[in-house]
Amino acid sequence: MTIRALHVASELYPLLKTGGLADVAGALPPALIERGADVRVLLPGFPAVLAGLTDMKEVARIGQRFGAAHVTLEQGKLGANGLIVYVIRADSLYERAGNPYLDAEHVPYGDNGQRFALLGWVAAQLAQQLDPAWTPHIVHAHDWHAGLAPAYLKAAERAQGRALANTVFTIHNLAYQGVFPAQLFDQLELPPDFFDMHGVEFYGQLSFLKAGLYYSDRITTVSPTYSREIQTIAQGGGLDALLRTRTHDLSGILNGVDYTVWNPSTDALLPDHYTSTRLSGKNACKAALQKRFGLAQQSDALLFGVVSRLTEQKGLDLLLAATPEIVRRGGQLVVFGTGDPAIEHGLQRVAQSHPESVAVELGFDEGLAHAIVAGSDVIAVPSRFEPCGLTQLYALAYGSLPLVHCVGGLADTVVDASLENLADDLTTGFVFNHFDPHSLALAIRRAFALYGRRSEWKATMRRAMRQDFGWGASADRYLTLYRELAP
Ligand code: ADP
Ligand code: GLC
Repeated sequence: MTIRALHVASELYPLLKTGGLADVAGALPPALIERGADVRVLLPGFPAVLAGLTDMKEVARIGQRFGAAHVTLEQGKLGANGLIVYVIRADSLYERAGNPYLDAEHVPYGDNGQRFALLGWVAAQLAQQLDPAWTPHIVHAHDWHAGLAPAYLKAAERAQGRALANTVFTIHNLAYQGVFPAQLFDQLELPPDFFDMHGVEFYGQLSFLKAGLYYSDRITTVSPTYSREIQTIAQGGGLDALLRTRTHDLSGILNGVDYTVWNPSTDALLPDHYTSTRLSGKNACKAALQKRFGLAQQSDALLFGVVSRLTEQKGLDLLLAATPEIVRRGGQLVVFGTGDPAIEHGLQRVAQSHPESVAVELGFDEGLAHAIVAGSDVIAVPSRFEPCGLTQLYALAYGSLPLVHCVGGLADTVVDASLENLADDLTTGFVFNHFDPHSLALAIRRAFALYGRRSEWKATMRRAMRQDFGWGASADRYLTLYRELAP
C-alpha cells in the first residue's frame, strides 16, 4: 500500500525560511517520496509561499473561519521538484510581509492563535475529504504552529465514531510552545472537555504545543539526545511529565542534510568549489569571506564563523566573552544573523573593538550563509540547548570543523578532537561539555592546537566532509513509523 502523508508546517525552504524547520519541511517530504510514499505539504498562505508556487488552483471553498472572511484551500507545485503544496488562502490572517510570526517590531502578531488554529483545523479537514482527490493516512504536524491538528482530528473521530488519519507530531523546539490566553479556547470549536490538564490546558492557559504532544499518536523529536533531555525537569519546559508518560510513543530521529542544496562541489552561491580530495577551492572561499567582511587577508588566521538566529538559545553571549581569547591567538571571527535586539547590539559592540579580526553583520541571507559556512575554518554553534541543529551538519559537509556545546543534536553529530579520538581517527570537530567560559576556552584552544598541525587538520576536514548525514536513514525511520500507524 502506498502511504499518503500530509506534512503540516509554517515554513518551507525555498519558499519561506526563518530557521531549520524550513529546511526540514523542504527536504523530508521529497526524501519520503523518493522512498515510495505519497507526500504533500500544507502551509499557510503567506505572500512568499503564494509567490513561489506554480500551477495554483482552487481545491475547496471554506468560507468564514477564525475571523477570516473568505478562506479557501488552494494547491500548487514547487518548481524544483514538483512537490504538491496545499496553501490556505486567508488574506486577512496571512497576507503580511516579512517574518511569518512577528510584526515589524519583533512582537508576535496578536492573532497568532487564530492564524495557526486555522492551520491545524484545515489539516484535520484534509483528513476528512476536504480534497476529494487526496486524503492522507498520516497527518504529520511540525512544531506548535501545527499542534492543534491532532486535537481537531481526535475531536472529529470522537464526533463521527470512526477512525480518521493517524498523527505524528514532531518537536523541532520545545522552547516555543504556542501559549495563548484561555479565552481563545472558545473560538477554537474544540469540545469543551479538551480544555483540561489532560488536553490543551497549560497552567491556566492554552498551549498549541501541548495539544500536539497530548493528542498525537506518535511524537518524534529531531535527535536522540534531545528526546532524552526533554524528559527531564531541567530541560522539559514544563512538559517533561507529559513527555515521560508518552515515553513509549516518543522517539528521536536525527535531521538530515539536503546535499543538493549544501554541497561545496556544486554550490552556486560560492566563489569557488572544492571536494574532500581537492580542497584548494576552500582557500578562495576563505579569502573572499575575509574580503567581504573587511578582515585582514591572512590565509593562516584561524577563522571562526557563526550563522545563527540571535536568540538566547544559541549561546552567543558565551562566545562573545571568548572573543578576546580568539583574537589574542591570532584568530578571526565572523558572525551573521538576526534576532533579539539586545544580542544584536552586544555583538556589534564587540566587533567595533576588534575591527581587523571580528566582523558582525545583521541580516538573513541564504547566499551569505553558504559563503560563511564554506569560507570559515571553524563553525561555532555554542547553543545552550539544540534540538538537532543543521548548521553543524552543513559545516561538516563543507570541511569547516564545528565547535559545539555537548547538547541535543550537537552531541549526536560532532566528535571532539580529544587525544584518544584523534588517535582513533574519529575527530570531526570540537565539543565542550559545560556551558561555561572555561570549557569553551579549552575547546577553542584545541581548535588552535589542531590548526597548528596542518596535516592532521586536513585529515580531520576530509573526515568531516565524508560523514553521511543525508536524509536517507532518517526518512526510512519516519516511513517505519508511518507503516506502524497506517491502517
Ligand atoms: P534553528 O532552526 O534553531 O535556527 P538550525 O541549525 O537547525 O537552527 O537551522 C538554522 C538554519 O537557518 C540553517 O539553514 C541556517 O543556515 C539558517 N540561518 C540561520 N541564520 C541565518 C541567516 N542570518 N541568514 C541565512 N540563513 C540563516
Ligand atoms: C529548530 C531547532 C533546531 C533544529 C530545527 C529543525 O529550530 O532549534 O535545532 O535543527 O528546528 O529541526
